[in-house]
Amino acid sequence: MTAEQISLEAMETEHLDGAVLLSREAGWPHRREDWELVLSVSEGIVALHDGRVVATTMMTPFGSDAAAINMVIVGSAMRGRGLGRRLMDAALEKAGARNCRLVATKEGLPLYEKLGFVAVGEIIQHQGKALKVAAPATVSWARDNEHEKICSLDRAACCLDRSKLMSILRRVARFAVIREGGEVTAFAGVRAFGRGLVIGPVVASSRQQAKDLIQFLLAHHDGDFVRLDTDLSSGLGPWLTERGLVHVGGGIPMQRGPKTERVETSYRPYALVNQALG
Ligand SMILES: CC(C)(COP(=O)(O)OP(=O)(O)OC[C@H]1O[C@@H](n2cnc3c(N)ncnc32)[C@H](O)[C@@H]1OP(=O)(O)O)[C@@H](O)C(=O)NCCC(=O)NCCS
Repeated sequence: MTAEQISLEAMETEHLDGAVLLSREAGWPHRREDWELVLSVSEGIVALHDGRVVATTMMTPFGSDAAAINMVIVGSAMRGRGLGRRLMDAALEKAGARNCRLVATKEGLPLYEKLGFVAVGEIIQHQGKALKVAAPATVSWARDNEHEKICSLDRAACCLDRSKLMSILRRVARFAVIREGGEVTAFAGVRAFGRGLVIGPVVASSRQQAKDLIQFLLAHHDGDFVRLDTDLSSGLGPWLTERGLVHVGGGIPMQRGPKTERVETSYRPYALVNQALG
């Protein structure tokens, strides 16, 4: 069978069971709900052979100037025949003139480099059973009417319009915040993902604030399996390890296309939503 005998179609809910099987085969922890979340903010593409999902990818637009490309998987029996490139070409066509970003695995890196993606950092993945810690008094749970402020901090830190994603996270995640003068100045989300929970996004203006937010969430989930993905430059790695979240791998964040405008701000992301969504 050649790659040309395989048709590419828009990903629909009916393809999700096949997509989950593919991600399991690739050793990824995604549950059906995790795929659903990405699909709800993305345009997905599936490669079908005899009605079976044999490869996937998605393009997640963040407004009109940026997009994430994610969930790029080719079934192991189909690799090395140009299918990965076909899917990437289709996803990039959907992204149009947007700046595209992704987090590459070692296997995906050569393909993305050929397509003009350039490495911009290093993501480290930490996970494990959260050890017992005390909740810092400076952190509390967010109130419902603080969602708009949380979104504006996310936008300032990421320089991306992730409002659609944030409105979905509002339903599926629980947010902790730090307030200064009654105003939210830093936040962190926690939600079910993969084998347990994921902490992210985390947005703060100092590493200490990020640590306080994460520690607060860990204090409420001691003994639970927790994952957190962060850029190596956040400097959180050793501190996470001390709390039971050990370094298990990571990925290379890459970008392609026109640079998005960065406004000077003290806010920065200290944890990703996940590797797919940045
Ligand atoms: C990464 C992955 C999607 C690639 O799919 P694929 O169908 O095998 O890729 P293709 O056959 O289209 O190859 C793509 C290109 O990369 C090149 N390539 C692949 N592996 C390479 C390697 N180790 N070194 C150099 N080039 C490599 C191919 O030669 C090809 O180049 P060409 O288009 O110029 O001929 C597939 O290996 C996979 O699903 N891996 C597991 C999940 C994963 O890690 N996904 C990436 C997530 S970021």
